[in-house]
Amino acid sequence: MRRAVCPGSFDPVTNGHVDVITRAAALYDELVVAVLVNPGKAGLFTVDERMALLRDAVADVPNVRVDSFQGLLVDYCRAHDVPVIVKGLRAVSDFEYELQMAQMNRELAAVETLFVPTAPQVGHLSSSLVKQIATFGGDVSGLVPKAVHERLVAQREREGSP
Ligand code: PNS
Repeated sequence: MRRAVCPGSFDPVTNGHVDVITRAAALYDELVVAVLVNPGKAGLFTVDERMALLRDAVADVPNVRVDSFQGLLVDYCRAHDVPVIVKGLRAVSDFEYELQMAQMNRELAAVETLFVPTAPQVGHLSSSLVKQIATFGGDVSGLVPKAVHERLVAQREREGSP
């Protein structure tokens, strides 16, 4: 079985992530979307919430499985027999760091990295910008899956405007 992992924080999943996940899933028998558990960094959403939102966002892509991981990505790859990491590239500015990680992951465990250039329509999206815009009441409905938008609106209503 040809398997790959698409790792990230996904706090929250954006339409850019969905673009990369959907296109990468077409290249493999199974694509595992793995959410990083980072005990040192509290996100806007818990890891369980991020996973639930991801599952909802890619519900119509049958060969995608959502999981979480802690520690080194290459250890997850070894433990789950995943030889390929898939990463989206939005712009040249992403490339330098992504190249460094790809080379390191290959050195550590011979895991290859496949870069998927994002569709131009979503090349400007990032979870952090989405969170910032939503926090200040901006409209992110065109930037994130419907369930994420609903959660962001509900969260803002609960917490009140800054
Ligand atoms: O969505 P993000 O935050 O850009 O994702 C970054 C992620 C999770 C892919 C990266 O931080 C990662 O792989 N973390 C796991 C720790 C690890 O393996 N570090 C060494 C990388 S060479």
